[in-house]
Order: sequence, then structure tokens, then C-alpha cells
Amino acid sequence: MIIIWIDETTSTNSAVLEYDQKNTGGIVLATRSQTNGRGQKGNSWESEAGKNLSFSVMWHPVSFPARNQFSISEAVALAVIDLLAGIDIDAKVKWPNDVYVGDKKICGILIEHSVLGMNLDRTVAGIGVNINQKKFFSDAPNPVSATQLTGQEYNLEMLLEQYVSILTEGIKRLETDSGREETHRRFVKNLWRGDGIGYGFRDCRTGECYTGIIKDVAPMGFLSVKNVETGEILEYAFKEVEFLL
Ligand code: BTN
Repeated sequence: MIIIWIDETTSTNSAVLEYDQKNTGGIVLATRSQTNGRGQKGNSWESEAGKNLSFSVMWHPVSFPARNQFSISEAVALAVIDLLAGIDIDAKVKWPNDVYVGDKKICGILIEHSVLGMNLDRTVAGIGVNINQKKFFSDAPNPVSATQLTGQEYNLEMLLEQYVSILTEGIKRLETDSGREETHRRFVKNLWRGDGIGYGFRDCRTGECYTGIIKDVAPMGFLSVKNVETGEILEYAFKEVEFLL
């Protein structure tokens, strides 16, 4: 993968498309300052200039069925977990693909695929990891950075190189059924609030709030939660359930 750093852009997820050439391997576009960072559910993503990792990885998966796309999301999030483990931060994946330390969010991920027929044509994985920011001013509810957790300052270029090499291995692993299964097993093992204890959930389809236990994530990404009062197992697609903090 080629890594390109630029001083400022609107959103790396949008800007990386300008580097799209079908025949090249992956491109990683990182910026020191993002003026219109995009988050999930149409939210914006804020990050103090020069302090954090804000980058997008774009590649053209080869013969990769669109139905397996959740495994890409798993590999992208697990690579963040591994990167943070390397600096002694024990992070977990908040389904579907935020990264949390305790009850605080250290990383957000926005993945955008384009599909051709049954296969993925292009993947853009946009990743924002809070690294050296000491104070957060936006109305994001619960941000945390690596420096707040460890008291250390980090070299962003070096961290990005490490991330890209971890992710490259992770993506390679997805080429085989066994590699995808292994990735999925690790994802489920590293789930935030996946410890068999009851937590608060809000079912966005009905508005109901209840105490539930995460039971599983299906390989295609559906989350199963057991309602502890009724015993019912509920299955959710993205955006159909919220964790109560
Ligand atoms: C979220 O948690 O809502 C997802 C946030 C994703 C932010 C990253 S920063 C780099 C890339 N460019 C963007 O505009 N968004 C992603």
C-alpha cells in the first residue's frame, strides 16, 4: 500500500477517490487536518488538527463477494485493536465497528463500498483514531485519546505505518474461508460488552429499552441480543439497536 500524507482536506474518504486507479494496489490517504470529516449516520467527525490519525484506505478487492463485506469491517476494526494493543491500550469493538476503551470511544470507522454485480468493486475504509488530542470540545458524547489513557505522545506517521502493515495482513487473511472464519472468531472475542453480562439496549425499531445480553454476531454482521426479562433473542442489522451508555 502507498501512504500519502496531505496537510488538509475535506474528508479523506472523499479525497482518496481522486487517487483511484484500477490497476494500483491499495492507497492510504492521511491528513493532518480534515475540514468536513464524515461519520456514521450522517454525523460529522471532529478531530483537532495535527493531533490524531484521520485516514482512508482504498483498494479494489479481487473477486470478493459483496455478501462477505462484513468481514472487511471486522478486519479493519481488529487492526485498530492490534495497533492499540501495541501501545498497551486494551480496546474492544463496539458493534458494528466503533472502537472503545471502557465506556469511551477512541476510534470511529466509516466504510464505503461500491459493488459491481455480486462482488465488491472498491472499498474505502475511513478511520479516525484519537491519539494526541488532550481535550475534546465537540458534542461527541464520550471521546478519549491514547494520550489521555497513557500520558504518552505518539508519532502519527509511525503509528499509521504500523496500522497499514497490520491491516494488509488482515485483508490477506480474508482471501480464504478459514481466514475469514478466524477473523470472525477474533471479532466476536473482542466485542465490547460481549462478556455475557446484561447491559441496556434500545431497540430502534420499537423504541423499547431493555436489559440484554449479547449472544453472538453472525458472519454477515447481524447482532443477536437476548432480552433478559422475556428470554427473547432479538436480531439486529446496523442502526436497528443502540447501546445505552
Ligand atoms: C463514526 O464513528 O461516526 C465514523 C467516523 C469516521 C471518521 C474517519 S476520519 C477519516 C475518514 N474520513 C472521514 O471523513 N471519515 C473517516
